[in-house]
Amino acid sequence: MNIFLVGFMGAGKSSVGKKLSEEMNYNFIDTDSFIEKQTERRIEDFFDRGEEEIFREKEREFLQNFDSENTVISTGGGMACSMKNISLMKKKGTIVYLFITLKEAIKRTHFNRPLLKNRENIDSLFKKRLHFYKNAHIIIPVGKKTVEEVSKRIKALLCCITPEGG
Ligand code: S3P
Repeated sequence: MNIFLVGFMGAGKSSVGKKLSEEMNYNFIDTDSFIEKQTERRIEDFFDRGEEEIFREKEREFLQNFDSENTVISTGGGMACSMKNISLMKKKGTIVYLFITLKEAIKRTHFNRPLLKNRENIDSLFKKRLHFYKNAHIIIPVGKKTVEEVSKRIKALLCCITPEGG
């Protein structure tokens, strides 16, 4: 089984993913780090040069080529924001949405992400993305839960899921 963690920037996908992979004795992949290593470029660099589209292609490529098992994958906040990517993730595993409110996202990121630099658009970006994230098999409201608590909750809920990919 593979577990894709999705959600808005600041939801804790990377830290929860790492913890969950340890608890389940699974491999762990953070797609941002994967793409940075693969391309030898920083994520910010794609955005600074107006090359978000190239970054999105790299995300898509990652999903198309992904063929591991027993892996927790922490995705970048935009990876789930395409129905094609959602269907690829559903084919290859279970999608878990770590839900935080926009207020929490701002508090947790301090606007420190390329896409949060334009503060006026954040509200509409957040709303647009809910529409995609809600396709997840499991939704976890993060709230004030610790990384350990979120990870335990996911583990407990995973046993009720039969992923489409088998
Ligand atoms: C993005 C989120 C970032 C990173 C990139 C784009 C997004 O990852 O992939 O800056 O579109 O939401 P985190 O969600 O880990 O911050």
